[in-house]
Amino acid sequence: MEVIVRPITAKDKEQWTRLWKLYQAFYHVSLSDEIGDSTFTRCLDPDVKMWAALAISPITNEPIGMVNYFSHIQTWDVKDKILLNDLYVDEEARIKGAGKKLIQYVYDHADKLQTPHVYWNTDHFNHRAQLLYTKIGYKTDKVQYRRKGF
Ligand code: ACO
Ligand code: ACO
Repeated sequence: MEVIVRPITAKDKEQWTRLWKLYQAFYHVSLSDEIGDSTFTRCLDPDVKMWAALAISPITNEPIGMVNYFSHIQTWDVKDKILLNDLYVDEEARIKGAGKKLIQYVYDHADKLQTPHVYWNTDHFNHRAQLLYTKIGYKTDKVQYRRKGF
């Protein structure tokens, strides 16, 4: 039996929020409930190009991982590209392939949308995540800057 990945439904609010909060704790941030509610709602809105999917344990049938991603226009291609914004797997469920399956799910959806360019950012010191990323992607030379105050 294998982990499966499926899109969220309205019924997943509680479990998605649980994973969303653990993801924030990992980053030592605490976003408001308004932001969580808005992100969850947008991911279900067919008019918004933002989605979320859950990895489901084959043993408990409960969510053990989450991915949130969205599509945006760009200047270097006529096609949109997809930013894989958030990825999280429950600590006790890690290193069993759930993270890889969540990313593969986004790749498959991106292919279906005919916008196959998928990218994401991570902290340079997040070596654990990068052990996975080097297997399913490649590291670019880019450095991210932000407007001061954000
Ligand atoms: N030594 C050797 N290899 C290791 C080790 C280790 N200590 N730890 C992990 N790996 C390898 C595994 O062998 C595996 O590769 P394999 O599939 O070839 O065997 C890979 O790293 C892990 O892959 P998965 O099992 O598919 O991933 P996992 O379910 O463990 O999820 C994730 C990875 C999502 C990064 C998880 O560790 C996590 O949630 N971390 C905390 C939050 C986080 O860092 N999220 C990503 C932030 S970046 C972003 O959101 C875009
Ligand atoms: N030694 C010390 N300081 C230097 C030097 C140097 N050799 N060269 C430049 N600087 C400083 C300048 O003093 C200035 O700082 P200051 O305002 O405090 O005096 C700063 O660097 C340059 O600032 P500007 O004059 O405002 O910028 P400029 O008009 O030169 O444009 C740009 C910068 C856009 C990066 C230009 O060099 C360029 O087009 N480069 C090629 C394309 C490129 O690299 N684009 C950015 C890619 S990333 C992206 O597109 C998001």
